[in-house]
Amino acid sequence: MARSVTSYDQAAQLRGLREQGWCAFEGFFDGAENEGMVLRLTALLGGREVDSLTGLGCTVFSLLARDPGFGGYLGRSDILSFCARALGVPERGPRLCRTGARLSGPACGERLEWHHHQGELQQALDERERFERLLVLCYPLGSSERIGPLVVRSRAFDDPLESAPRDPFAPLAGEQALEVTPGTAVVIDAPLLHAAGRGSESVLRLVWGAQLQAAGDRTAHPDDDPLGERWRATRRRWVASLRGTGTE
Ligand SMILES: [Fe+2]
Repeated sequence: MARSVTSYDQAAQLRGLREQGWCAFEGFFDGAENEGMVLRLTALLGGREVDSLTGLGCTVFSLLARDPGFGGYLGRSDILSFCARALGVPERGPRLCRTGARLSGPACGERLEWHHHQGELQQALDERERFERLLVLCYPLGSSERIGPLVVRSRAFDDPLESAPRDPFAPLAGEQALEVTPGTAVVIDAPLLHAAGRGSESVLRLVWGAQLQAAGDRTAHPDDDPLGERWRATRRRWVASLRGTGTE
């Protein structure tokens, strides 16, 4: 059965986010929701086989414009209210700045490079009093060595920003491969250095999610969905629905 954020210890989750830069809502989405997400995500491949994905795999921008159905999952999940609280605007909710997905498979690169999503906000990192930008990452198939794990280098809220290493694909001391069950939503702080591994088996790896800022915080960020991209994604959706294919 799908879970509500209120069924988790929210104080402990907030503490985790503050002390390690991430927290996981294990098994947040139920089996039917996971199945729905998998179907919607694989439809974005337009019939391509998982083995044909190379490099980073298939990266989808402006996911909500491509498939507004994902808004239902985000909306159903009061995970947004949890994020709003962390962003310091519990009464107003978060602002959705970007939505996207990445689909990858066994022929993709062994690792996704180390990166963070702090962007231009980094100058003010040591002055911030609340989280400024959060990411919600949803794993309908889970995250594991078999599928390809999310890899993090935990950091506390007050830690200085750590840049990606010179070799962005090399393992880092202290890295942690997160194993989460299907339907888990992981919330991460934008400055958290993270990467991802390729799975050990010939299976599809799926992650989709959103980047959020506080409502009213209009600070621009290089990751934000560009208006043009959103428009193109919407157009692709219209064309697909006119063709009756459901995909581009
Ligand atoms: Fe990322």
